[in-house]
Amino acid sequence: MSRHVVSSVDDFPPGTRRLITVKGRPIVVFNIEGEYFALLNRCPHQQASLFHGTLTGLVASSEPGCYKFEREGEILRCPWHGWEFDIRTGQSYCDPSKIQAKSYKIEIEDGASVVKGPYIAETFSIVVEENYVVLEL
Ligand code: FES
Repeated sequence: MSRHVVSSVDDFPPGTRRLITVKGRPIVVFNIEGEYFALLNRCPHQQASLFHGTLTGLVASSEPGCYKFEREGEILRCPWHGWEFDIRTGQSYCDPSKIQAKSYKIEIEDGASVVKGPYIAETFSIVVEENYVVLEL
């Protein structure tokens, strides 16, 4: 594993992002409230730059008519077609091959489950050593 300095902590404040190239790979690094996350700067759908994506959150519902916004800033929305990725894992919950107008059988069940889509944005390990943000590749 090779290690690469991204920035000093002081030059990389919360709410900002950096685009770097390591071994020919474009990588976008985010500082979200002091936590650092790194993803390959290519959307797995059609290769849009995730650096230009919008950070948002999840809308969760415990019952019809009750909604709450959670994990604010931890979901990255691709600028081209809006697929969303969990910034912590790169996991997308969008699978357009299954998006279509269709009728479904409805059942009442206890609890709720989230089904993961087949696409995952590549992520990298980031650590802070002394006063530097370091990418591990
Ligand atoms: S290129 Fe990212 S959603 Fe299409």
